[in-house]
This record gives sequence, structure tokens and C-alpha cells, in this order.
Amino acid sequence: MRIGVLTGGGDCPGLNAVIRAVVRKGVGTYGHEFVGFRDGWKGPLEGITRPLGIPEVRGILPRGGTILGSSRTNPFKIEGGVERIKQNLADMGVDALVAIGGEDTLGVATKLTELGVNVVGVPKTIDNDLGATDFTFGFDTAVNIAMEAIDRLHTTAESHHRTVVVEVMGRHAGWIALHAGLAGGANVILLPEQKFDLDKVVEHVETRFQTNYSPIIVISEGAMPTDGDMITLNGELDAFGHVRLGGIGNWLADQLEKRTGKEARAVVLGHTQRGGTPTAFDRVLATRFGLHAIDAVHEGDFGKMVALRSTEIVRVPLADATRELKTVPPHRYAEAEAFFG
Ligand code: F6P
Repeated sequence: MRIGVLTGGGDCPGLNAVIRAVVRKGVGTYGHEFVGFRDGWKGPLEGITRPLGIPEVRGILPRGGTILGSSRTNPFKIEGGVERIKQNLADMGVDALVAIGGEDTLGVATKLTELGVNVVGVPKTIDNDLGATDFTFGFDTAVNIAMEAIDRLHTTAESHHRTVVVEVMGRHAGWIALHAGLAGGANVILLPEQKFDLDKVVEHVETRFQTNYSPIIVISEGAMPTDGDMITLNGELDAFGHVRLGGIGNWLADQLEKRTGKEARAVVLGHTQRGGTPTAFDRVLATRFGLHAIDAVHEGDFGKMVALRSTEIVRVPLADATRELKTVPPHRYAEAEAFFG
């Protein structure tokens, strides 16, 4: 079989580990041939490829990013996009695709499957918000990066008797904030799932100063105050209709400085959370996803996505990938509240 591989959406530590596993087992065990499509759905849409064999995947396991490049191209938003993809795949003799991506990339994969394209999906997102899988790779790395940053911010905050607000990624799901905040000993954690009461946050900050410690607040980029909305960088939408979030950390630091009379600083971790080498957990999960994805392709089990259920990798319908956004349940947030203030 000749198999195309692509990575779409925001990059994520572990993408290269998936690509390597797919190719190593695909060539070594099954004798398939591969073609790398560049920059997500833009690759098959415009017929942009790169060679993808064993030599190309050597040494990429620990590397962040993706050797294939990524984009947020949506072929369903482009006139004749789907037909062009089908034609390009036919012209190149590509029998099947492995699409590695999040909600948007897998959403396109689901629709293409319904239109007769052979696709197997691999879930990816540092936000860990895909309902069909217990964990996505990249999440553990992002949490560790944020935790290390929080550890460092504790000492500088103490030295200057300041509040530090740490803004982490998480559009609709606060998993990164919850886990990094718990692991880093944050005094308040604020998530998109639950609007926050600014007066309560001020109270926690003041209690913390009274006990001679400096408060660290971890906040998801998508968190909102009770009477406010998500803060966006500009009004522009990407091809999947997402706005660019950012700014809630600075807004909160400003409010806290005014209300407590103590200096406050905001640190926006941004894309640092997505860059660089994956943790061991993410390398192993990504590798297992890759191995199981190529098994599915080899068996002709298309329209499926690999997923982690407990400790096992299973196959679920691709449509399940986008069916349910996995948000932080109230009882998980309640656990963290024991440490607030
Ligand atoms: O989807 C993952 C994510 O990290 C979100 O948390 C964040 O809002 C988004 O990507 C930002 O990505 P970019 O700047 O690449 O558009």
C-alpha cells in the first residue's frame, strides 16, 4: 500500500514520535510505502509532499514540532477543495491517509471518510480535550513545562512580595491549568469551565500575603470573570472559526494590583508549552498510537481513530473524536479548591 501521512492544527510534542512509529512498523513489518504530506490538509490539497521512509524518520523521536509541518487549512472552506484532494491522492497512487491532529483536523478526516477517502486518525492536542481518548500526547509535556515555570515563579514572586499570574493554554478546557496548578502548588486555579468571582480571587491573594507567602495564580487563556467574556487578541477567525485568545492574565494581574495594593505581574507561557522535546510519557503514548494506527491501515479498518482507554490503545469511530469536548468536571476542580488561598 502507498500511505500518506499528515499533521494538522497546532503542533504538539510527540508528533514526530507518531510519524516515526507509523513509518518504522509500516515499512519494517508490513512493507508499505509512505509519502509525507506537508502542512496539514494543505499538502494533499495542493499536492505538496516530501519523502518519508526509514532514513527520514531516524533521530526524530525526541524532536518537538513536526517534520511534516502543520497548518490550519480547511479543505471544506475552499471551493472544490475535497475534489482536489481526491484527485491528488489518485494521481499520486495514495491508497490511504494517516491524519494526526486535533478536533479540526480529525473533523475534516471524518467528513472525508464519509466521502470515500481511506483515513485513520491519531488524536493530538496539548489541551487534552478530546472526549474519545483518556489522554492525548503533548499534554504531559505542556503540564511539565508549565509546572517548571511555576516553580521558578514562586521564588521570584517571594523575593518581590508580588502576585504572579501565570496564563497557560486551554481554550475551552482547563486541563493544563488544573494539572500544572496542582503540581506547581498554585494558590488559585482558574479555568474556562467555571466563571470566576474576582472578589474571591482578591480574598485568596490577601490571605496568602497575610501568611507571608506570595500568591501564584494559574489561569487558562479561556477563563472568564463572572461578568465578562473570553479575552481575544483580535477579532480574526481562522479557517475553523477560532478566535485568538490571550490577555486574561494581564487583565487579572492589573485588577489584583489595583485591588490589593501589592504589585502583580502576568507571565504568559504561550507557545513555550508546545515547543521542544516530549516527556517520556508522551513519547511512549505517541509511539503506541503510531503503531496501532498503522495496524488499522494495514487491516483496512478505515474511518477509525486510535485512542487510549485506561492503559490500552483501542480503535473508535473517527466521528467520536469530535463528538464530545472533554472538559474538567466539577469534582476535579473541587479537589484543587482545597489548596486555594
Ligand atoms: O489547540 C491547542 C492550542 O494550544 C490552544 O490551547 C490555543 O488556543 C491554540 O492552540 C493556539 O494556537 P495557535 O497560536 O497556533 O493558533
